[in-house]
Amino acid sequence: MIVYDNRNIYKLKANNSKIGDPMAIEGKKGKQIAILTGGGDAPGLNAVIRAIVVKAKNLGYDTLGILDGWKGLLDCKEHCSTNLDLDKVEDIHMLGGTILHTSRTNPYQIKGGPEQVKANLKKFNCDFLIAIGGEDTLGVANKLHKEGINVVGVPKTIDNDLSETDYTFGFNTAITRAAEAIENLHTTAKSHHRIIVVEVMGRHAGWMTLEAGLAGGASVILVPEEPFDIEEIITIINNREKKGKFYTIIAVSEGATPKKGAMELQKQEKDAFGHVRLGGIAQALSEEIERRTGKECRYVVLGHLQRAGDPTVFDRVLGTRLGIKAAEMIDNKEFGMMAALQGTEIVPVKLDKAVGTLKTVPKSRIDEAKTFYEV
Ligand code: F6P
Repeated sequence: MIVYDNRNIYKLKANNSKIGDPMAIEGKKGKQIAILTGGGDAPGLNAVIRAIVVKAKNLGYDTLGILDGWKGLLDCKEHCSTNLDLDKVEDIHMLGGTILHTSRTNPYQIKGGPEQVKANLKKFNCDFLIAIGGEDTLGVANKLHKEGINVVGVPKTIDNDLSETDYTFGFNTAITRAAEAIENLHTTAKSHHRIIVVEVMGRHAGWMTLEAGLAGGASVILVPEEPFDIEEIITIINNREKKGKFYTIIAVSEGATPKKGAMELQKQEKDAFGHVRLGGIAQALSEEIERRTGKECRYVVLGHLQRAGDPTVFDRVLGTRLGIKAAEMIDNKEFGMMAALQGTEIVPVKLDKAVGTLKTVPKSRIDEAKTFYEV
């Protein structure tokens, strides 16, 4: 029996079941589903994996976990897969991270990559694949589907920027962490009469900053969708002081930019999907405000703390429901589709539409947040 312990479960699982066992390629031909998790980890991934394994078993399928995302289906010699049985996924829905591990590998950036993926799926006796990921992972899944792979997608990202689904799992946990941090920063900001700029993840979508900023009581919320006006920020800070509020918390998206001229990015290097690694806006903004106002400023970069740790109840349930649906979709031969949350229902949608355009924050939501601006 596996004792649930969120610090040691990965080790326990690995010891008990030989994660990465090179022999883990068995399965009834035509009845085995490969599962992989790609891109940045998001709390709720293990809930999806568990639900797929249990539902697939009920439908008569075996499941094979591919380790390290698409990387596990590329140069696959050993330690790239693991048979997923019921015992291996017991209680893992409560656990953050992904027991299958992940990478940002892109098979389409590697010569012969897609062919290797197809050959390895065949070698593993997997006629079906469930890819759990964001726009990058699902973009690859969509291309592979067009090349004949029987693939179903599950939307994952803390950024909540995938189209065709109201929410992605991971987002709720990440905004809960970020909101808590923003809320807590009030006591120290108030005590020292300081301005604190908090940098929130989310890449080019401001969902996380908007919702965490609203919930955590930020006085200014800056998102990538609307370049910010530094003068307006200074006005808010001054107006707050006139009302006796000698502190201000500013929530800023890592992808936010000022109206005139972009501020410096910390690193310009790109990943395999061509994304620049964002960061540095909180420091740049805090220094700029200090320079213009002479007031004491500090900045905090929440970084990976936002997606670390165990999922919230919302993400456990959403991940579980998406996983069940994905297994059903394999059984219904709904390939080239993604399980999505629309309203309260989990429905199949076309991968083509889901990865076509990023879902960004509409102006109406940005204006809502401005209700609380002291301009
Ligand atoms: O897409 C999820 C995300 O956490 C973004 O919000 C962030 O910009 C990026 O991943 C960080 O990537 P990495 O984990 O590779 O540093």
